[in-house]
Order: sequence, then structure tokens, then C-alpha cells
Amino acid sequence: MSFTTQLLIRNSRILLANGEFLLGDVLVREGKIVQVAPGISTESNQIIDGSGLTLLPGVIDPQVHFREPGLEYKEDLFTATCACARGGVTSFLEMPNTKPLTITQAALDDKLARANQKCLVNYGFFIGATPDNLPDLLQAKPTCGIKIFMGSAHGALLVSREAELEPIFAQGKRLIAVHAEDQERIIIRRKEFAGNSDPAIHSVIQDEVVALNATKLALKLSKKYERRLHILHLSTGVEAELLREDKPGWVTAEVTPQHLLLNTSAYAKIGTLAQMNPPVRSPENNALLWKALLDGVIDFIATDHAPHTLAEKEQGYPHSPSGMPGVQTSLPLMLTQAVAGKSSVAQVANWMSTAPAKAYGIKNKGAIAPGYDADLVLVDLENYHPVLREEMLSKCGWSPFEGWNLTGWPVVTIVGGQVVYEKGKLNTEVRGKALSFEV
Ligand code: DOR
Repeated sequence: MSFTTQLLIRNSRILLANGEFLLGDVLVREGKIVQVAPGISTESNQIIDGSGLTLLPGVIDPQVHFREPGLEYKEDLFTATCACARGGVTSFLEMPNTKPLTITQAALDDKLARANQKCLVNYGFFIGATPDNLPDLLQAKPTCGIKIFMGSAHGALLVSREAELEPIFAQGKRLIAVHAEDQERIIIRRKEFAGNSDPAIHSVIQDEVVALNATKLALKLSKKYERRLHILHLSTGVEAELLREDKPGWVTAEVTPQHLLLNTSAYAKIGTLAQMNPPVRSPENNALLWKALLDGVIDFIATDHAPHTLAEKEQGYPHSPSGMPGVQTSLPLMLTQAVAGKSSVAQVANWMSTAPAKAYGIKNKGAIAPGYDADLVLVDLENYHPVLREEMLSKCGWSPFEGWNLTGWPVVTIVGGQVVYEKGKLNTEVRGKALSFEV
């Protein structure tokens, strides 16, 4: 891999680690930030003019489904990371529901080898829990953590019963990330509402109680064993309020832009494209999730990027698969909210970079400061541009946010000091690195 030896980003509005902005320059050498100051004078190999732009730490997306190996007709590590580069996502943590499932060291090694060949940004992978792979969960390396599907999974990845969950929580120390839905209740309610093909019924079947039951169980086990727990894609106000009352220091939670910004009214507009697990909820839940995010009850943001083809989505409910893409639009979606006054830009950078780096023990990422890796994104907070289907780089080729007029689009994305995206053009020669996790 060849580095640009020196890179100077001039005259941008730099978000500093203390949350303040500095109008100045950032000097990068051998992939690391070496100086952040106004008026740096140096003979740099490459200069980027950041005038009028804002420089943020690159986004770390801590929950994505990139479909390789085995489901490459939906997405692969190359197409997914092209979308990442364009969306300002410089690192990702990927889920184990590929084919084969990532439930052994061999499957994890295979993903890492593929990522090394194909990923334009930095990568890490979860190992998936099954009811009987505890030795793999204890030994797998390197991994950001154990993913447990308590519900909404098929086959071996489903670990839904307390008796199966307990040994996983009881043994080992590494982070457990849960997809918290109560599978038993889902099965009962699917039968109850069978024959209904309105996609809106998805949010009724997998209701708030489905989510709350599983979150309660995961919290109970985490407390019993003082086990590091991360609750993925929190979708309801009741779960957020539960955590507000009772959230041990070793528990974190995330929310997706779609659970903040979409609600059940989306089914009438985009049908099954709004179908995901856990489902989108009522507008009241949007408000409660925002409140919990702003109050720090929810720690950070993940996209749950889960691409499916339009043909699959067009099969109609309940045959349409759940999930929607997100890596290309998450940063402008959140920055548009910030510009509209919902939060500060610094809060967005914390939720989308600093906080996930901290939670997963990813060293030297998540801030713009000397010694940190030069994973950076220059965004334009002055101009607006709509989400357009023809600009989506994910292989699935659509977005649930088509037509939304957003600001904060990346102009330049830098991974390890290498410019991977600049003004509409990707450099597909750039490769990211494997992340390491020190919790
Ligand atoms: O809607 C979803 N789709 N939620 C998940 O957790 C999995 C994902 C997928 O892989 O399609």
C-alpha cells in the first residue's frame, strides 16, 4: 500500500477534540495527523483546499450488513465501501449474517482476507453467537464483539431463550451486542396477523413489547454477570426510558437515523422499502429517541445498512425482506438535522465517530488531534442536494430517503491519509486496514 507521504488540508473549519472549531490547517504524515493549527507552512506532496468546508473525524459506522460472502447479489465489500467513502464513513463494524455465517475463526479469517483485498475503508467484524458455539465466541480474534440475534434471525444465528443466552453472558468478557426482539412473541403475532399484506402491519406484529421484552432480558443478564452489553438499534421510547432509569456503566445503546427520522407514515409513501427489524415506530417514538440521544441515554448512531434488491422488496409483505441501506446518507441526514437546530455539529461527530471509537476500544480514531489516524471527512454545510437513486453506490441501488434535500454531504473523504473520495470521484485503489479493539 502506498501512502501519500504528506497531505495538507488548508483553511477548513476544523472540529477539535474539545468540541470547538478552529479555522486552520491539518497536516498529515504517513497516515497520521501530525499538526492542527492555523497557517501551517510546509512543502506538502498534496494540498486540499478546505475553504468554506468543515472538517470532521471520519464516521465509524458500528453496525452494517455488507453481504459478503454468499449474498453478493445484494452487496459486496467493494460496492459497500464505495458507498461508505462517498458517505464519509471511514470505518465499519460488520455483522455475521452472511453465507456462511461468521460463527467460527475460519469464517472470520475469510472475511478479513476479503476485506483486505476489497475494502476502501477500515473494517472490523462481529462473531455471531449460536446456541452452541461458545468456544468460538471465547477465542475468536480479532473481533469487535459477539453479536446475538435474540429475534428476527433465521437458523443457527437465533439465540432467543434465556437458558441459551445465559452461558454466553456468563463466560468471557468481550462485548455482547444484541438485536433485542422477542422471537416467541413475533411468532405468535405473525400467526395472529397472517394474511395481512399491508407492510404497515410489520410494525404492529413486531411491536414495542417485542423490543422491550428482549431489551429487558439482555439487561437482566448483563447485570447478573456485569457483562459488557451493547443494545443495537434501539427503536422505542419505552426501551429508552427503561435505560434512563437503569443503565449500568458497562451498557451502551445505539439508534439508527431511520428510527430517528422515519416512522409508520413511511409505509404509505415507500411501502416495503420502509420495512426493517426492529420496525420503524410512531412519531412519538421518534421524539423519545431524539430526547434519549440528546440526553446521553443513547450513546451513538449506527446505520444497520442492510441492502436488499428492489426485486426482493417488490415481492410484497410478508415476503419482502427487512432492511434498508444507509452508509451513504447517514452523515448528511444527521448534519441536516444539526443545521436545522436539532443538535450541534459537534454532537453529530461525537455520535458518529468519537463515541463508537470509545465504546469499541478503537484506538487513535474518532478525533482530529495530533497522533490520531487521518480518517477525515470534509463536508459542505452551506449547500443542499437531494438524495438521488442514481447517485447511490450500494449495489442495491436505492435509499429510503430518496428526494430528501440534505446538506453536509462529503466533499472529500480521507482514509489513513489517503484521499478515497473527492468531489464526485472515488479513488478505488485506496484500501483500509483491519481495526483493532482494546476494551
Ligand atoms: O432489518 C434488518 N435487516 N435488521 C437486521 O437486524 C438484519 C438486517 C439484514 O441483514 O437484512
